[in-house]
Amino acid sequence: MKTMTKALIAGLALTLSVGTVSAADPEDAIDYRQGVFQVFKWNMGPLGAMAQGDIPFDRELAAKHAGQLDRVADMPWQGFTEGSDLGNTDAMPEVWMNREAFDEKAADFEQASARLVELITEEAGERDIRRQIGAVGQSCRSCHDDFRM
Ligand code: HEC
Repeated sequence: MKTMTKALIAGLALTLSVGTVSAADPEDAIDYRQGVFQVFKWNMGPLGAMAQGDIPFDRELAAKHAGQLDRVADMPWQGFTEGSDLGNTDAMPEVWMNREAFDEKAADFEQASARLVELITEEAGERDIRRQIGAVGQSCRSCHDDFRM
């Protein structure tokens, strides 16, 4: 009986310790981060179109999409868990090999996104807002160039 209890405790400890390495199943982590990136894309679409003059500049629409983008701006990175470098993913191995540089690009993007919301809140001019949308788009591309296949 005592041995069995010990075995159960050992088993539980093992489960917990494995759990701390990576709580999520790698495939769930990949689905999760790709899902958040789809939210990025959903919001960048109209913003980019406004910046490029493909649709008329609309302050309310810009505020909505910039706000939504900024609310999820820090969410994808936690999905790049250990072991989720393999599978149905376009992430390059460099994300895990050079995590510091990846985190830096993520921080650059978050900053650009926060600045966009700030400009819109301050009721900055249309030109400055459009230029900052361009900066956000550039921060997406800059990370994709180095870390996305
Ligand atoms: C710090 C790096 C980084 C930044 C910043 C970044 N991305 Fe990505 N993005 C990635 C990586 C890595 C992948 C591949 C994820 C995967 O397949 O596991 C990806 C994938 C995507 C995908 C494909 C998702 C799917 O369904 O497979 C879209 C769309 C996307 N990003 C849009 C954006 C947009 C829009 C921005 C800016 C608003 C952005 N990303 C900013 C790194 C980044």
